[in-house]
Amino acid sequence: MTAGRGRERQNEIYTAGVAGRVPRVPTNFAELERRARKAMSERAWAYIAGGAGEGRTMTANREALGRWAIVPRILRDVSHRDLSIDLFGAHLRAPILFAPVGAGGLALPEADIHIGHAAAELGVPYIFSNQGSAPMESVAAEMDRVRPGAPRWFQLYWSTDDDLVDSLLARAEKSGAQAIAVTLDTTMLGWRPQDLNLGSLPFAKAEGIAQYTSDPRFAEIVAERAAAPAGDKPEISLGAIKTLFSIARSTPGALLRNLVRPEPRVGVQTFLDIYSRPSLSWAEIETLRERTSLPIVLKGVLHPDDARAAVGVGIDGIIVSNHGGRQIDGEISSIDALTDIAPVVDGRCKILVDSGIYTGADVFKALALGADAVCIGRPHMYGLAIDGAAGARDAVANIIAELDLTLGLAGHTAVSDLSVDALRRV
Ligand SMILES: Cc1cc2nc3c(=O)[nH]c(=O)nc-3n(C[C@H](O)[C@H](O)[C@H](O)COP(=O)(O)O)c2cc1C
Repeated sequence: MTAGRGRERQNEIYTAGVAGRVPRVPTNFAELERRARKAMSERAWAYIAGGAGEGRTMTANREALGRWAIVPRILRDVSHRDLSIDLFGAHLRAPILFAPVGAGGLALPEADIHIGHAAAELGVPYIFSNQGSAPMESVAAEMDRVRPGAPRWFQLYWSTDDDLVDSLLARAEKSGAQAIAVTLDTTMLGWRPQDLNLGSLPFAKAEGIAQYTSDPRFAEIVAERAAAPAGDKPEISLGAIKTLFSIARSTPGALLRNLVRPEPRVGVQTFLDIYSRPSLSWAEIETLRERTSLPIVLKGVLHPDDARAAVGVGIDGIIVSNHGGRQIDGEISSIDALTDIAPVVDGRCKILVDSGIYTGADVFKALALGADAVCIGRPHMYGLAIDGAAGARDAVANIIAELDLTLGLAGHTAVSDLSVDALRRV
Protein backbone atom coordinates (compact mmCIF):
# COMPACT_ATOMS: atom_id res chain seq x y z
CA MET A 1 0.00 0.00 0.00
CA THR A 2 1.41 3.42 -0.94
CA ALA A 3 1.22 6.64 1.03
CA GLY A 4 -1.43 7.86 -1.39
CA ARG A 5 -1.24 10.29 -4.26
CA GLY A 6 -1.25 13.38 -2.09
CA ARG A 7 1.73 12.46 0.02
CA GLU A 8 3.58 11.03 -2.98
CA ARG A 9 3.23 14.31 -4.84
CA GLN A 10 4.25 16.33 -1.78
CA ASN A 11 7.31 14.09 -1.36
CA GLU A 12 8.29 14.56 -5.02
CA ILE A 13 8.06 18.33 -4.71
CA TYR A 14 9.75 18.64 -1.31
CA THR A 15 12.53 16.22 -2.30
CA ALA A 16 13.25 18.29 -5.40
CA GLY A 17 13.15 21.36 -3.16
CA VAL A 18 15.97 19.96 -1.05
CA ALA A 19 18.05 19.90 -4.23
CA GLY A 20 17.06 23.50 -4.92
CA ARG A 21 14.38 22.86 -7.55
CA VAL A 22 10.90 24.36 -7.36
CA PRO A 23 7.95 23.02 -9.37
CA ARG A 24 7.68 24.48 -12.88
CA VAL A 25 3.89 24.35 -12.61
CA PRO A 26 2.56 26.37 -9.67
CA THR A 27 0.50 24.34 -7.22
CA ASN A 28 -2.29 26.90 -6.64
CA PHE A 29 -4.67 28.18 -9.30
CA ALA A 30 -4.03 31.92 -8.98
CA GLU A 31 -0.30 31.51 -9.56
CA LEU A 32 -0.89 28.91 -12.29
CA GLU A 33 -3.08 31.39 -14.12
CA ARG A 34 -0.60 34.24 -13.69
CA ARG A 35 2.31 32.19 -15.03
CA ALA A 36 0.24 30.82 -17.92
CA ARG A 37 -0.67 34.33 -19.00
CA LYS A 38 3.02 35.20 -19.23
CA ALA A 39 3.65 32.06 -21.33
CA MET A 40 0.88 32.76 -23.86
CA SER A 41 0.37 35.19 -26.73
CA GLU A 42 -2.30 37.84 -26.31
CA ARG A 43 -4.60 35.95 -28.70
CA ALA A 44 -4.10 32.63 -26.94
CA TRP A 45 -4.79 34.19 -23.55
CA ALA A 46 -7.93 35.92 -24.84
CA TYR A 47 -9.33 32.69 -26.24
CA ILE A 48 -8.33 30.30 -23.45
CA ALA A 49 -8.83 32.42 -20.35
CA GLY A 50 -11.66 34.57 -21.69
CA GLY A 51 -15.32 34.26 -20.81
CA ALA A 52 -18.67 35.53 -22.02
CA GLY A 53 -19.65 39.18 -21.61
CA GLU A 54 -18.46 40.77 -18.39
CA GLY A 55 -17.18 37.47 -17.01
CA ARG A 56 -19.95 37.16 -14.42
CA THR A 57 -20.51 33.44 -15.00
CA MET A 58 -16.84 32.70 -14.42
CA THR A 59 -17.03 34.60 -11.14
CA ALA A 60 -20.27 32.83 -10.19
CA ASN A 61 -18.63 29.44 -10.72
CA ARG A 62 -15.95 30.24 -8.17
CA GLU A 63 -18.30 32.00 -5.72
CA ALA A 64 -20.73 29.07 -5.66
CA LEU A 65 -17.94 26.78 -4.50
CA GLY A 66 -17.11 29.30 -1.79
CA ARG A 67 -20.61 29.00 -0.39
CA TRP A 68 -19.92 25.41 0.65
CA ALA A 69 -17.53 24.58 3.47
CA ILE A 70 -15.96 21.22 4.24
CA VAL A 71 -16.70 20.05 7.79
CA PRO A 72 -14.01 17.54 8.79
CA ARG A 73 -14.48 14.56 11.07
CA ILE A 74 -11.71 13.45 13.42
CA LEU A 75 -10.24 10.20 14.73
CA ARG A 76 -11.22 8.01 11.82
CA ASP A 77 -8.61 5.75 10.28
CA VAL A 78 -7.76 7.51 7.00
CA SER A 79 -4.44 5.79 6.32
CA HIS A 80 -5.82 4.17 3.15
CA ARG A 81 -7.82 6.29 0.76
CA ASP A 82 -9.55 5.29 -2.45
CA LEU A 83 -9.96 7.87 -5.22
CA SER A 84 -11.10 5.37 -7.82
CA ILE A 85 -14.51 5.23 -9.47
CA ASP A 86 -16.28 3.03 -12.00
CA LEU A 87 -17.60 4.91 -15.01
CA PHE A 88 -19.28 3.19 -17.97
CA GLY A 89 -17.51 -0.09 -17.33
CA ALA A 90 -14.08 1.49 -16.87
CA HIS A 91 -12.30 1.53 -13.54
CA LEU A 92 -10.71 4.99 -13.23
CA ARG A 93 -7.87 5.84 -10.84
CA ALA A 94 -9.37 9.21 -9.96
CA PRO A 95 -12.80 10.86 -10.44
CA ILE A 96 -11.30 13.31 -12.90
CA LEU A 97 -11.29 13.77 -16.68
CA PHE A 98 -9.50 16.22 -18.96
CA ALA A 99 -12.30 18.38 -20.41
CA PRO A 100 -12.43 18.83 -24.18
CA VAL A 101 -10.67 22.04 -25.14
CA GLY A 102 -10.67 23.31 -28.72
CA ALA A 103 -8.01 25.35 -30.51
CA GLY A 104 -5.46 24.41 -27.87
CA GLY A 105 -2.86 24.84 -30.60
CA LEU A 106 -2.93 28.52 -29.67
CA ALA A 107 -1.06 27.57 -26.48
CA LEU A 108 1.19 24.90 -28.04
CA PRO A 109 1.12 23.41 -31.56
CA GLU A 110 -0.73 20.07 -31.73
CA ALA A 111 -1.83 20.67 -28.13
CA ASP A 112 -4.08 17.62 -28.10
CA ILE A 113 -1.19 15.22 -28.61
CA HIS A 114 0.61 16.63 -25.58
CA ILE A 115 -2.55 16.61 -23.48
CA GLY A 116 -3.28 13.03 -24.57
CA HIS A 117 0.24 12.11 -23.47
CA ALA A 118 -0.35 13.78 -20.09
CA ALA A 119 -3.73 12.10 -19.53
CA ALA A 120 -2.30 8.69 -20.46
CA GLU A 121 0.55 9.14 -18.00
CA LEU A 122 -1.94 9.89 -15.23
CA GLY A 123 -4.35 7.16 -16.36
CA VAL A 124 -7.34 9.52 -16.38
CA PRO A 125 -9.58 9.96 -19.43
CA TYR A 126 -9.06 12.65 -22.04
CA ILE A 127 -12.16 13.88 -23.85
CA PHE A 128 -11.00 14.68 -27.40
CA SER A 129 -12.48 17.96 -28.59
CA ASN A 130 -14.33 18.09 -31.89
CA GLN A 131 -12.42 21.35 -32.30
CA GLY A 132 -9.05 19.73 -31.64
CA SER A 133 -5.70 20.89 -32.96
CA ALA A 134 -4.66 17.37 -33.97
CA PRO A 135 -6.64 14.51 -35.56
CA MET A 136 -8.11 12.12 -32.98
CA GLU A 137 -6.25 9.18 -34.55
CA SER A 138 -2.89 10.83 -33.82
CA VAL A 139 -3.89 11.62 -30.24
CA ALA A 140 -5.13 8.06 -29.71
CA ALA A 141 -1.83 6.68 -31.09
CA GLU A 142 0.18 8.85 -28.71
CA MET A 143 -1.96 7.77 -25.75
CA ASP A 144 -1.54 4.10 -26.67
CA ARG A 145 2.20 4.62 -26.93
CA VAL A 146 2.29 5.90 -23.34
CA ARG A 147 -0.26 3.48 -21.89
CA PRO A 148 -1.97 1.00 -24.22
CA GLY A 149 -5.73 1.44 -24.02
CA ALA A 150 -5.43 4.67 -21.98
CA PRO A 151 -9.01 5.91 -21.46
CA ARG A 152 -10.45 8.50 -23.87
CA TRP A 153 -13.80 9.89 -24.96
CA PHE A 154 -14.86 11.97 -27.95
CA GLN A 155 -16.78 15.24 -27.72
CA LEU A 156 -19.12 15.93 -30.61
CA TYR A 157 -20.48 19.17 -32.00
CA TRP A 158 -23.52 18.23 -34.05
CA SER A 159 -22.85 19.54 -37.55
CA THR A 160 -25.53 20.51 -40.05
CA ASP A 161 -24.28 17.53 -42.12
CA ASP A 162 -25.47 14.23 -40.61
CA ASP A 163 -22.98 12.22 -42.67
CA LEU A 164 -20.17 14.23 -41.08
CA VAL A 165 -21.61 13.42 -37.64
CA ASP A 166 -21.61 9.71 -38.52
CA SER A 167 -18.10 9.90 -39.90
CA LEU A 168 -16.78 11.57 -36.73
CA LEU A 169 -18.56 9.00 -34.54
CA ALA A 170 -17.15 6.09 -36.55
CA ARG A 171 -13.64 7.54 -36.29
CA ALA A 172 -14.08 8.03 -32.54
CA GLU A 173 -15.14 4.42 -32.09
CA LYS A 174 -12.15 3.25 -34.13
CA SER A 175 -9.87 5.48 -32.06
CA GLY A 176 -10.92 3.64 -28.91
CA ALA A 177 -13.30 6.25 -27.46
CA GLN A 178 -15.25 4.83 -24.52
CA ALA A 179 -18.06 7.40 -24.55
CA ILE A 180 -19.44 10.23 -26.65
CA ALA A 181 -20.06 13.61 -25.04
CA VAL A 182 -22.38 15.76 -27.14
CA THR A 183 -21.94 19.43 -26.34
CA LEU A 184 -25.25 21.27 -26.40
CA ASP A 185 -24.41 24.72 -25.10
CA THR A 186 -22.49 25.93 -28.13
CA THR A 187 -25.00 25.91 -30.97
CA MET A 188 -23.55 29.39 -31.47
CA LEU A 189 -20.43 30.97 -30.01
CA GLY A 190 -21.10 33.15 -26.99
CA TRP A 191 -20.34 36.89 -26.92
CA ARG A 192 -16.65 36.87 -26.01
CA PRO A 193 -15.27 40.39 -25.72
CA GLN A 194 -11.64 39.34 -25.24
CA ASP A 195 -11.63 37.68 -28.67
CA LEU A 196 -13.95 40.23 -30.27
CA ASN A 197 -11.73 43.13 -29.20
CA LEU A 198 -8.80 41.49 -31.01
CA GLY A 199 -10.96 40.46 -33.97
CA SER A 200 -9.64 36.98 -33.26
CA LEU A 201 -11.50 33.79 -34.12
CA PRO A 202 -9.00 30.90 -34.09
CA PHE A 203 -11.08 28.76 -36.46
CA ALA A 204 -10.99 31.46 -39.14
CA LYS A 205 -7.25 30.82 -39.24
CA ALA A 206 -7.77 27.05 -39.38
CA GLU A 207 -6.71 26.72 -35.74
CA GLY A 208 -8.79 23.99 -34.10
CA ILE A 209 -10.29 22.37 -37.17
CA ALA A 210 -8.01 19.32 -37.38
CA GLN A 211 -10.86 16.82 -36.81
CA TYR A 212 -12.51 18.30 -39.90
CA THR A 213 -9.52 18.62 -42.23
CA SER A 214 -8.68 14.97 -41.47
CA ASP A 215 -12.21 13.73 -42.16
CA PRO A 216 -13.17 11.97 -45.42
CA ARG A 217 -16.77 13.26 -45.41
CA PHE A 218 -15.59 16.81 -44.74
CA ALA A 219 -13.13 16.47 -47.66
CA GLU A 220 -16.04 15.52 -49.93
CA ILE A 221 -18.04 18.59 -48.92
CA VAL A 222 -15.01 20.84 -49.42
CA ALA A 223 -14.27 19.32 -52.85
CA GLU A 224 -17.85 20.01 -53.97
CA ARG A 225 -17.66 23.59 -52.78
CA ALA A 226 -14.18 24.18 -54.23
CA ALA A 227 -15.44 23.04 -57.66
CA ALA A 228 -18.25 25.63 -57.60
CA PRO A 229 -17.55 29.01 -59.29
CA ALA A 230 -15.63 31.37 -56.99
CA GLY A 231 -17.62 34.18 -55.37
CA ASP A 232 -16.19 37.52 -54.30
CA LYS A 233 -12.41 37.89 -54.50
CA PRO A 234 -10.84 37.80 -50.99
CA GLU A 235 -9.47 41.06 -49.60
CA ILE A 236 -5.70 41.48 -50.00
CA SER A 237 -3.99 42.96 -46.93
CA LEU A 238 -1.10 42.03 -44.65
CA GLY A 239 -3.56 40.50 -42.17
CA ALA A 240 -5.27 38.50 -44.90
CA ILE A 241 -1.93 37.16 -46.15
CA LYS A 242 -0.95 36.13 -42.61
CA THR A 243 -4.27 34.34 -42.26
CA LEU A 244 -3.66 32.58 -45.58
CA PHE A 245 -0.32 31.30 -44.30
CA SER A 246 -1.89 30.17 -41.03
CA ILE A 247 -4.59 28.27 -42.94
CA ALA A 248 -2.02 26.71 -45.29
CA ARG A 249 0.16 25.62 -42.36
CA SER A 250 -2.75 24.13 -40.40
CA THR A 251 -4.07 22.11 -43.34
CA PRO A 252 -2.57 18.67 -44.09
CA GLY A 253 -0.24 18.72 -47.13
CA ALA A 254 2.70 20.76 -48.41
CA LEU A 255 2.67 24.46 -47.45
CA LEU A 256 3.32 25.82 -50.96
CA ARG A 257 0.59 23.70 -52.52
CA ASN A 258 -1.82 24.67 -49.76
CA LEU A 259 -1.13 28.34 -50.47
CA VAL A 260 -2.23 28.07 -54.09
CA ARG A 261 -5.04 25.51 -54.06
CA PRO A 262 -8.52 26.67 -53.02
CA GLU A 263 -9.39 23.74 -50.69
CA PRO A 264 -7.70 25.02 -47.50
CA ARG A 265 -9.55 28.36 -47.65
CA VAL A 266 -12.79 26.69 -48.70
CA GLY A 267 -12.27 24.23 -45.82
CA VAL A 268 -12.24 27.05 -43.27
CA GLN A 269 -15.38 28.62 -44.74
CA THR A 270 -17.06 25.22 -44.87
CA PHE A 271 -16.21 24.59 -41.25
CA LEU A 272 -17.66 27.95 -40.22
CA ASP A 273 -20.84 27.21 -42.19
CA ILE A 274 -21.50 23.68 -40.96
CA TYR A 275 -19.81 23.01 -37.62
CA SER A 276 -22.92 23.48 -35.52
CA ARG A 277 -26.66 23.15 -35.81
CA PRO A 278 -28.63 25.78 -33.89
CA SER A 279 -31.87 23.89 -34.66
CA LEU A 280 -30.68 20.82 -32.72
CA SER A 281 -33.47 19.24 -30.65
CA TRP A 282 -34.26 16.11 -28.65
CA ALA A 283 -35.28 14.42 -31.93
CA GLU A 284 -31.66 14.29 -33.14
CA ILE A 285 -30.41 13.22 -29.72
CA GLU A 286 -32.82 10.28 -29.80
CA THR A 287 -31.23 9.12 -33.08
CA LEU A 288 -27.81 8.92 -31.42
CA ARG A 289 -28.52 5.43 -30.11
CA GLU A 290 -28.62 4.11 -33.67
CA ARG A 291 -25.54 6.11 -34.64
CA THR A 292 -23.23 4.77 -31.93
CA SER A 293 -23.03 1.86 -29.53
CA LEU A 294 -20.99 3.92 -27.04
CA PRO A 295 -22.41 5.44 -23.84
CA ILE A 296 -23.89 8.88 -24.56
CA VAL A 297 -23.27 11.88 -22.33
CA LEU A 298 -24.95 15.28 -22.78
CA LYS A 299 -22.65 18.21 -21.98
CA GLY A 300 -24.04 21.57 -20.96
CA VAL A 301 -27.06 20.49 -18.91
CA LEU A 302 -28.04 23.12 -16.30
CA HIS A 303 -31.80 22.82 -15.80
CA PRO A 304 -33.33 19.97 -13.75
CA ASP A 305 -36.06 19.49 -16.38
CA ASP A 306 -33.40 18.90 -19.06
CA ALA A 307 -31.67 16.41 -16.78
CA ARG A 308 -35.02 14.67 -16.27
CA ALA A 309 -35.59 14.61 -20.04
CA ALA A 310 -32.10 13.19 -20.60
CA VAL A 311 -32.83 10.35 -18.20
CA GLY A 312 -36.18 9.88 -19.96
CA VAL A 313 -34.57 9.26 -23.34
CA GLY A 314 -32.09 6.82 -21.84
CA ILE A 315 -28.98 9.01 -21.83
CA ASP A 316 -26.09 7.41 -19.91
CA GLY A 317 -24.67 10.56 -18.37
CA ILE A 318 -24.76 14.36 -18.24
CA ILE A 319 -22.09 16.97 -17.75
CA VAL A 320 -23.43 19.84 -15.68
CA SER A 321 -21.47 22.67 -17.26
CA ASN A 322 -21.68 26.28 -18.35
CA HIS A 323 -18.67 25.78 -20.64
CA GLY A 324 -16.36 27.49 -18.18
CA GLY A 325 -18.47 30.65 -18.31
CA ARG A 326 -17.69 31.15 -21.99
CA GLN A 327 -21.21 31.12 -23.42
CA ILE A 328 -23.71 33.25 -21.47
CA ASP A 329 -22.87 36.10 -19.11
CA GLY A 330 -24.73 35.93 -15.80
CA GLU A 331 -25.55 32.23 -16.12
CA ILE A 332 -26.22 29.87 -13.21
CA SER A 333 -23.02 28.45 -11.76
CA SER A 334 -22.42 24.79 -12.45
CA ILE A 335 -22.29 24.04 -8.69
CA ASP A 336 -25.70 25.66 -8.06
CA ALA A 337 -27.08 23.75 -11.05
CA LEU A 338 -25.58 20.54 -9.68
CA THR A 339 -27.40 20.95 -6.38
CA ASP A 340 -30.70 21.33 -8.29
CA ILE A 341 -30.01 18.44 -10.65
CA ALA A 342 -28.48 15.71 -8.46
CA PRO A 343 -31.72 14.94 -6.52
CA VAL A 344 -33.73 14.88 -9.75
CA VAL A 345 -31.39 12.41 -11.42
CA ASP A 346 -31.20 10.35 -8.24
CA GLY A 347 -28.61 7.91 -9.58
CA ARG A 348 -30.45 7.15 -12.83
CA CYS A 349 -27.55 8.38 -14.95
CA LYS A 350 -23.98 9.45 -14.26
CA ILE A 351 -23.40 13.10 -13.37
CA LEU A 352 -20.19 14.89 -14.27
CA VAL A 353 -19.60 18.54 -13.59
CA ASP A 354 -17.16 21.21 -14.73
CA SER A 355 -16.63 24.98 -14.86
CA GLY A 356 -14.49 26.75 -12.30
CA ILE A 357 -13.41 23.56 -10.50
CA TYR A 358 -9.71 24.21 -10.06
CA THR A 359 -8.47 22.57 -6.86
CA GLY A 360 -8.67 19.27 -5.03
CA ALA A 361 -10.93 20.86 -2.43
CA ASP A 362 -13.25 22.03 -5.24
CA VAL A 363 -13.41 18.49 -6.61
CA PHE A 364 -14.20 17.18 -3.11
CA LYS A 365 -17.15 19.60 -2.85
CA ALA A 366 -18.46 18.71 -6.31
CA LEU A 367 -18.39 15.01 -5.49
CA ALA A 368 -20.06 15.59 -2.12
CA LEU A 369 -22.80 17.55 -3.90
CA GLY A 370 -23.65 14.58 -6.09
CA ALA A 371 -21.21 14.48 -9.00
CA ASP A 372 -19.70 11.12 -9.94
CA ALA A 373 -16.71 12.80 -11.59
CA VAL A 374 -15.33 16.20 -12.52
CA CYS A 375 -13.85 17.58 -15.76
CA ILE A 376 -10.95 19.99 -15.57
CA GLY A 377 -10.61 22.63 -18.31
CA ARG A 378 -8.39 25.68 -17.99
CA PRO A 379 -5.95 24.31 -15.38
CA HIS A 380 -4.59 21.70 -17.77
CA MET A 381 -4.38 24.28 -20.56
CA TYR A 382 -2.41 26.59 -18.29
CA GLY A 383 -0.05 23.76 -17.36
CA LEU A 384 0.35 22.99 -21.06
CA ALA A 385 1.25 26.58 -21.86
CA ILE A 386 3.87 26.65 -19.09
CA ASP A 387 5.55 23.27 -19.60
CA GLY A 388 3.97 21.26 -22.45
CA ALA A 389 2.80 17.70 -21.75
CA ALA A 390 4.57 17.62 -18.38
CA GLY A 391 2.82 20.84 -17.41
CA ALA A 392 -0.63 19.56 -18.35
CA ARG A 393 0.10 16.40 -16.38
CA ASP A 394 1.37 18.23 -13.30
CA ALA A 395 -1.54 20.69 -13.21
CA VAL A 396 -3.98 17.77 -12.96
CA ALA A 397 -1.68 15.64 -10.76
CA ASN A 398 -1.70 18.50 -8.26
CA ILE A 399 -5.50 18.59 -8.20
CA ILE A 400 -5.61 14.81 -7.66
CA ALA A 401 -3.00 15.09 -4.89
CA GLU A 402 -4.95 17.79 -3.08
CA LEU A 403 -8.16 15.79 -3.46
CA ASP A 404 -6.48 12.81 -1.81
CA LEU A 405 -5.21 14.89 1.11
CA THR A 406 -8.53 16.72 1.51
CA LEU A 407 -10.41 13.42 1.55
CA GLY A 408 -8.26 12.03 4.34
CA LEU A 409 -7.99 15.24 6.33
CA ALA A 410 -11.78 15.60 6.27
CA GLY A 411 -12.08 12.10 7.72
CA HIS A 412 -13.14 10.12 4.64
CA THR A 413 -11.56 7.18 2.89
CA ALA A 414 -13.40 6.78 -0.45
CA VAL A 415 -14.58 9.40 -2.94
CA SER A 416 -17.48 7.16 -3.89
CA ASP A 417 -18.85 7.42 -0.31
CA LEU A 418 -18.92 11.22 -0.17
CA SER A 419 -22.26 12.92 0.39
CA VAL A 420 -23.54 16.38 1.22
CA ASP A 421 -23.12 15.46 4.91
CA ALA A 422 -19.43 16.27 4.45
CA LEU A 423 -20.32 19.92 3.76
CA ARG A 424 -22.20 22.81 5.25
CA ARG A 425 -23.66 25.73 3.31
CA VAL A 426 -22.13 28.99 4.58
C1 LIG B 1 -10.09 27.29 -24.52
C2 LIG B 1 -11.29 26.44 -24.31
C3 LIG B 1 -11.80 25.73 -25.37
C4 LIG B 1 -12.90 24.89 -25.18
N1 LIG B 1 -13.35 24.12 -26.22
C5 LIG B 1 -14.35 23.24 -26.01
C6 LIG B 1 -14.75 22.34 -27.02
O1 LIG B 1 -14.17 22.32 -28.11
N2 LIG B 1 -15.77 21.53 -26.77
C7 LIG B 1 -16.43 21.51 -25.57
O2 LIG B 1 -17.37 20.74 -25.38
N3 LIG B 1 -16.05 22.33 -24.57
C8 LIG B 1 -15.02 23.17 -24.76
N4 LIG B 1 -14.62 23.98 -23.74
C9 LIG B 1 -15.27 23.88 -22.43
C10 LIG B 1 -14.60 22.82 -21.57
O3 LIG B 1 -14.82 21.53 -22.05
C11 LIG B 1 -15.11 22.86 -20.14
O4 LIG B 1 -16.50 22.79 -20.13
C12 LIG B 1 -14.67 24.14 -19.42
O5 LIG B 1 -13.36 24.50 -19.77
C13 LIG B 1 -14.74 23.91 -17.92
O6 LIG B 1 -14.49 25.09 -17.25
P1 LIG B 1 -13.06 25.49 -16.65
O7 LIG B 1 -12.21 25.90 -17.79
O8 LIG B 1 -13.42 26.61 -15.76
O9 LIG B 1 -12.52 24.25 -15.94
C14 LIG B 1 -13.51 24.81 -23.91
C15 LIG B 1 -12.97 25.53 -22.84
C16 LIG B 1 -11.87 26.34 -23.02
C17 LIG B 1 -11.29 27.05 -21.84
